[in-house]
Amino acid sequence: MAETLGIGFLGAGDVSVLHAEAVARCSGARLVGVWNRTEARGRTRASEFGCRWFETPEALVADPEVDAVFVLTNLETHLQYAKAAFAAGKPVLCEKPVAANADEVREMKRCAEEAGLLCMPGHNMIYEQSVERARHLIQRGDLGRVVSVYVLYNIYHGDERAAAYPGVVRQIMTHNLYSMMYLGGRPRRVSAFKAVLNHPDPEKEDLVLALVELESGAIAHLSASFAADDLSADPWAFLVKVIGTAGTARYTYQDWVEVKKGIAHSRTYTAYQGSIINEVAHFVSLLRHGGEPLSTMDDAITCQQAIEAIEASIATGRSVAL
Ligand SMILES: NC(=O)c1ccc[n+]([C@@H]2O[C@H](COP(=O)([O-])OP(=O)(O)OC[C@H]3O[C@@H](n4cnc5c(N)ncnc54)[C@H](O)[C@@H]3O)[C@@H](O)[C@H]2O)c1
Repeated sequence: MAETLGIGFLGAGDVSVLHAEAVARCSGARLVGVWNRTEARGRTRASEFGCRWFETPEALVADPEVDAVFVLTNLETHLQYAKAAFAAGKPVLCEKPVAANADEVREMKRCAEEAGLLCMPGHNMIYEQSVERARHLIQRGDLGRVVSVYVLYNIYHGDERAAAYPGVVRQIMTHNLYSMMYLGGRPRRVSAFKAVLNHPDPEKEDLVLALVELESGAIAHLSASFAADDLSADPWAFLVKVIGTAGTARYTYQDWVEVKKGIAHSRTYTAYQGSIINEVAHFVSLLRHGGEPLSTMDDAITCQQAIEAIEASIATGRSVAL
């Protein structure tokens, strides 16, 4: 394997800016080039990132300088591009949600295994030292029996940015779910509600709340909102909290805030970019030294099943078992 791993991006939307920064900060990797469906944006980003522009995804994945591929397109096309990378013998870091449904995530996992290649879900929020510390405390039993897990997200997204995404169930709840699973274990049953409160499209929910019964018996409280910022004295922009019988752990974006606009946020939550820097460093380390992602493709399958259960609960007004 090359001394410095060459990375290629399929997709050059907003999230590619965060990944480009992460690759630039990773000593064992460099960004070789990008492909984007619309040429103008692909060329602009390539020039901003100081890398090559590829005319087709096939050319990018086949290029001998590209050792690994980041799939950063819209969720509906993740499977297609991950498969193209595997066919060219290249491992993949795939943005969340990993695919459009649980069967597609299973297919992506199977294709990666058949090719003998790493496929890592882009479950970035848990690549954060304080979240990892919380997990170690829980695993050692230092927090006693986990009673409650909270993963709460309240970050206003303007109409234009929110319109480019599916509603918050698919766009954000995946983050809540894999974070919950990392700290509290697998889900057993969900009960969920959604609402459209501050977005012109009645199909794009900007608020979702899910209560999740975990296999351990603990209960998780998950919510995601694009509808409003939390401007209170102790804001829940992105908050993770675990309450156990013998202790508590908490992590919040609010611990590090910079007064400059983020790409989709009104300010810069330093830990957000930090989680992607750590995620990319972990991916590169797995390619060099082996090991497991903090959240696996099996976790991505469970996450997607939980998303589908949340959607079924909203549609039926009942709680739904996974
Ligand atoms: N981990 C995170 O915190 C985080 C943050 C934002 C986005 N994301 C994920 O990253 C992915 C991209 O999001 P984004 O914010 O860059 O979105 P964006 O709207 O800025 O860009 C969308 C990207 O998808 C491409 N695309 C759209 N339709 C396509 C098609 N039919 N074929 C090929 N390419 C197509 C566009 O060309 C562009 O590259 C999504 O899966 C999203 O959920 C993750």
